[in-house]
Amino acid sequence: MARHFLTLLDLEPAELDWVINRAIELKKMQHAGEIYEPLKNQVLGMIFEKSSTRTRISFEAGMTQFGGSAIFLSSRDTQLGRGEPIEDSARVMSRMVDAIMIRTFDHEIVEKFAAYSKVPVINALTDDFHPCQLLADMQTYKEHRGSIKGKTVTWVGDGNNMCHSYINAARQFDFKLNIACPEGFDPHHQLVDDNADRVQIIRNPKEAVINSDLIVTDVWASMGQEEEQQARMVKFADYQVNKELMDLANPDALFMHCLPAHRGEEVSAEVMDDLDSVVWDEAENRLHAQKALLEFLMCQEG
Ligand code: CP
Ligand code: NVA
Repeated sequence: MARHFLTLLDLEPAELDWVINRAIELKKMQHAGEIYEPLKNQVLGMIFEKSSTRTRISFEAGMTQFGGSAIFLSSRDTQLGRGEPIEDSARVMSRMVDAIMIRTFDHEIVEKFAAYSKVPVINALTDDFHPCQLLADMQTYKEHRGSIKGKTVTWVGDGNNMCHSYINAARQFDFKLNIACPEGFDPHHQLVDDNADRVQIIRNPKEAVINSDLIVTDVWASMGQEEEQQARMVKFADYQVNKELMDLANPDALFMHCLPAHRGEEVSAEVMDDLDSVVWDEAENRLHAQKALLEFLMCQEG
């Protein structure tokens, strides 16, 4: 049975720790110019139904560095975009490639795909979750500040796919999560309730960030919500991560953003470019963290 990575809950906490530590090692190896090709001749299929810069490049570069290759499949060009059933596509593709990565809308699409796939399926973002980004974020925190266990993270902004993955991360990596979101933009309540021992909604961002070790935000309108952009600008006006807000957190608090960012909206230009901002390491770590994930899922020994 293939192991899938649809949310952070698909790996045990110890397995996630292995992936993060391995990502740190693989990064050092790559920076030293060491050639390491554990996936020679293996192929990753990459289905994109939404745009991407980081995710596509990191998976494609990662497979090449590992001695394998990746096929970019936009839904415009495949029969998926013309209505071929997901289960049929999964059965066919998984007989030809060694793993499949999907970025799509409904989370049920990746679940259905995985149910019919013989090979590992990786969620590269759905409307509900973005677990690959969390691997990079957890690696980045560890590299800069050590273990995140027992720390306090504050999510500021929309209760979206990234926020949901932060809730799962709070559980798997054992940290406390405050969520500062405007009313009407809460994360799924069931997810919050299931993790009530470590996750709480605090509406006022100035209150939420106190004693926090990491402040994270994301765009106010996600992919697929473009027409809500203007209305959301009004609702989220008090939820910008700026210097004033960062100054209320712990003195060594880091700032993260999965990118792409809108300076002047969810984050000020000053915070993006501040010393506490680790957004470029976070983006680079998509490469290393996903290579560790590919190795875990695709190599027998894991
Ligand atoms: N953070 C992230 O997933 O970026 P892309 O949309 O560019 O892949
Ligand atoms: N919440 C954003 C994340 C982009 C990487 C979106 O879904 O568009």
